[in-house]
Amino acid sequence: MIIVIDGPAGSGKSSTAKKIAELLDIQYLDSGALYRALTFLWLRTEPSDLSKFFEMLPDVKLETEYVHPTFQVKMNGEDITKEIRSQEVANHVSEMAAEPKARSFVNQYMRKLVKHDTYIADGRDLGTAVFPNADLKFYMDASLEERAKRRYRELESIEAHVTFEDVKQNLKERDYKDSNRSADPLKKDDGAILIDTTGKTFDEQISEMVEIIREKSN
Ligand code: CDP
Repeated sequence: MIIVIDGPAGSGKSSTAKKIAELLDIQYLDSGALYRALTFLWLRTEPSDLSKFFEMLPDVKLETEYVHPTFQVKMNGEDITKEIRSQEVANHVSEMAAEPKARSFVNQYMRKLVKHDTYIADGRDLGTAVFPNADLKFYMDASLEERAKRRYRELESIEAHVTFEDVKQNLKERDYKDSNRSADPLKKDDGAILIDTTGKTFDEQISEMVEIIREKSN
């Protein structure tokens, strides 16, 4: 079984998916972390030449494991779980995610992974492109102001120099790029259930979604 959550940056997808995974005792898959991992590697190796990066992509070994509450990522044996969350990676990830070669690499990895267990996964195009036959599809959204506030709270303890305006601007730019690219853009699938979290508490949105999942599983 696969449950997917799509939506813009900072809409609460990953914290929600993690909590649901814990409550229902299922696996969690963070597709954005995979794009972040490719971006991290690209920035470290060949930032001026994306085509060189794609030449080495077939040799890249990605490994992921969800150990509550952290989605752990290893690239060629190196743990890069923390590094992929930096603002520098956030500033370039939409560029990488617009590349069809990056998308097919990530999608192949994900489709193989979910064959072996029940998963809740979050991203941008999971309901529309990666898992069109998912058992249940959610689309989470919230106002830009609220999403920026949440992301700023998460980041301020890790990156002291980042300002609220930087975070808000990054979310705005990423949403624009993610929604307007030609390769599998962010959009709500017709079959996805809309969860607008503006003004909702975390517990309220979790109960709402868990109830929908339980109804669907019965
Ligand atoms: O957590 P946050 O909402 O900041 O973003 P993320 O889930 O870590 O995803 C980072 C970036 O990866 C997004 O801005 C998209 O450009 C890209 N992405 C995508 O294109 N397709 C997905 N299924 C997931 C992420």
